[in-house]
Amino acid sequence: MTDRQRPGWFITLEGGEGAGKTTAMQQLADSLNRRGLDVVITREPGGIPIAEKIRHIILDPSHTTMDARTEALLYAAARRQHLVEKVIPALQKGAIVLCDRFVDSSLAYQGHARGLGMDAVWEINRFAIHDTMPDVTFWLDIDPEIGLGRIAANDTREFNRLDQEQLAFHLAVREGYARLAEQHQERIVRIDANQPSEGIKRQMFDILYERTQDFRVRTCK
Ligand SMILES: Nc1ncnc2c1ncn2[C@@H]1O[C@H](COP(=O)(O)OP(=O)(O)O)[C@@H](O)[C@H]1O
Ligand SMILES: [Mg+2]
Repeated sequence: MTDRQRPGWFITLEGGEGAGKTTAMQQLADSLNRRGLDVVITREPGGIPIAEKIRHIILDPSHTTMDARTEALLYAAARRQHLVEKVIPALQKGAIVLCDRFVDSSLAYQGHARGLGMDAVWEINRFAIHDTMPDVTFWLDIDPEIGLGRIAANDTREFNRLDQEQLAFHLAVREGYARLAEQHQERIVRIDANQPSEGIKRQMFDILYERTQDFRVRTCK
């Protein structure tokens, strides 16, 4: 499935707003921790101070004039710094890194939904990522109306610039993910996110267990 030059596992979660990524990721991390595995949970854009600052710029609701290419470049810059400072060192130490969003978000949101083109967005990200791609990516697929409804029901979350987008944008994001899942079947696994988070977590765990001998050895020890 991947080059085994690094001892750790790089697992990313993708999907639209309110798909339950953050919730399911925490549950998966708890499961893995209980088995004594070294787990690092992180998110994009952010995860380290420089990238959190970039995240702040990207998501600031007052930045209504932000150009789509500027936005894509900022995401790629935050991604690079986060990889170098946090993800790669953890992988080299053998940790299981669970990352809430990664390059597929840029491809689906900026590339497809904003219309920059997936190829163009991949080019700048190829430069940023160099050769650190996820071993497995879980796409938590949800009808955007359900996902946005979940968020609307939870008034504690900060309102950000993306929440202002129309439903059509979120439908296009879903379409982008579907295209990516079709193109990268060896890496991206679709999970129906319209189910309780416990079920999502179990499916992710089972897939990791089925796919990888190394994971089986580690979870059984
Ligand atoms: N599987 C689920 N079913 C129903 N509600 C969920 C589920 N997972 C998360 N939620 C709720 O939906 C909202 C968004 O969840 P969150 O994990 O933050 O999604 P995301 O990180 O994908 O935007 C939260 O209020 C959360 O409690
Ligand atoms: Mg989240």
